[in-house]
Amino acid sequence: MAEDPRAWWRHGVLYQVYPRSFADSNGDGVGDLVGLTRHLDHLQWLGVRGFWSSPITPSPNFDWGYDVVDYTGVDPALGTLADAETMIASATARGLKVILDLVPNHTSTQHPWFLESRSSRDSPKRDWYVWQDAKPDGSLPNNWQSSFIGPAWRFDEIAGQYYLSNFLPEQADLNWWNPEVRAEFERILRFWFDLGVAGFRIDVAHMLVKDRELRDNPPATDDDPFIEQLHGQRQQYNANRPEVHEIYRRWRVIADSYDPPRLLIGETPVWKPTILASYYGEGDELDLAFNFILLETPFDADAMHEVIETTLAALPQGWQAVWAGGNHDVSRFPTRWAGNSPTRARAALLMLLTLPGTPFLYAGDEILMTDTAVPPDRLRDPIGVQLYPMPFGRDPERTPMQWSAEPGAGFTDPGVEPWLPFGDLAVNVAAQRDDPGSALTLTRDLIGLREAIVDLHAGGYGRVDGPAGWWCYRRGERVVVAINLTGTAGVLGGVHGLLRISTDRSRDGEVLDGDLALEPDEAAIIWLDA
Ligand code: NOJ
Repeated sequence: MAEDPRAWWRHGVLYQVYPRSFADSNGDGVGDLVGLTRHLDHLQWLGVRGFWSSPITPSPNFDWGYDVVDYTGVDPALGTLADAETMIASATARGLKVILDLVPNHTSTQHPWFLESRSSRDSPKRDWYVWQDAKPDGSLPNNWQSSFIGPAWRFDEIAGQYYLSNFLPEQADLNWWNPEVRAEFERILRFWFDLGVAGFRIDVAHMLVKDRELRDNPPATDDDPFIEQLHGQRQQYNANRPEVHEIYRRWRVIADSYDPPRLLIGETPVWKPTILASYYGEGDELDLAFNFILLETPFDADAMHEVIETTLAALPQGWQAVWAGGNHDVSRFPTRWAGNSPTRARAALLMLLTLPGTPFLYAGDEILMTDTAVPPDRLRDPIGVQLYPMPFGRDPERTPMQWSAEPGAGFTDPGVEPWLPFGDLAVNVAAQRDDPGSALTLTRDLIGLREAIVDLHAGGYGRVDGPAGWWCYRRGERVVVAINLTGTAGVLGGVHGLLRISTDRSRDGEVLDGDLALEPDEAAIIWLDA
């Protein structure tokens, strides 16, 4: 029987590449597409089914690619369109799918559309962005706050008006009420799909459409998520607007018109599972919507179980959750969840790769790279620079992939300074590759087991009672995952089966006839007797 054309993302594990930090082929200290292509063997060997690359499109790099000046080109620092085509072809030949990043909420203020739009009130592209005069009293058009720092309105001298800018001043929000903007992005989707791209991760998917009347947001209350409290307001009128769903319904028709159907994944930092579920529509919008609730949850049994349970309850049968332990915007999980403890990080890895839904690894997770302290003179993230010395920058999770302990770390040529500093080079792919006890081998084996056991990639989830502080869950009929998140050894009773993989690899294959003993921060996957 032919495999379901969606199995690659429904059953498989996916991987995120931050292209500037993956592999540098030309010795300029910046990762590029040729370097990425040369390392596709690693992804194939690891067993992931595909990868999402953060933006490869041309950008003045105020926000490192998330400020786009050309949606159908390739940034010269990363390569050429021909390099992208070679990358797609090489990946496809290895059975790997390529997911690109689409940034539809905003463009660079250097994008030709914006230059045209700002040039005159009569410009045919004036309405492609959100232009407003100050209020009669001279105050800003409304009270919206940028998702980064300060008000979301910036005055443009040439245009003589304010433009809406929900991120950096160098990023201007597009006006998604304009049908020409919509048509243009449909063209962009088709351009890349026609080149063989398997799907898109959609940046800031929850914010494209804003309130047409630009109403003020209400003040945040203590019940609102931390981020809204930080900005002092609830994002009622500039995020999660009902009209955004029309766009995804339309994109889904386009994605499904391809053979095989293309994948749409939302970057959806929303804090209620029911709002997250709304991005799946009636099963006719996004295929997957990233779960940021888990990312923000401590590695605690009750807290995490609740996120999984409430998320699954919000997603009707047949829809798929998607989990990541990190990405280029948040602290790496071995640091955030495990406090840099390698033992606890291994437990987090086992957890991530046994959750119900699609797991995403972020490049470096497989060797358990931790956050890297970046000295002030090497900071590259504009947020890190502006807020220094507050630790809000995103450079610590963006440092280059560590392929080896050689000078250049196998990332760039020896003697070349990488665009961000390396972390602890003792943590690297070469050192772990042939070590049966390494994190890399654990990752590969977990992915292999997940692929091999239907219960693990497709079975249901239910919490199993266990000792206080443990997180034990069933996957499907025959699999139990047990994680001892306490500081003391303990025992889970009533377990009859085979220990398939423990984070202590010397235990793999143990036959369990009643008791499963786990050390602190140990985690194990059990194949129960029938
Ligand atoms: C989310 C991206 O992941 C982040 O890196 C970027 O700064 C913002 N969106 C704005 O595009």
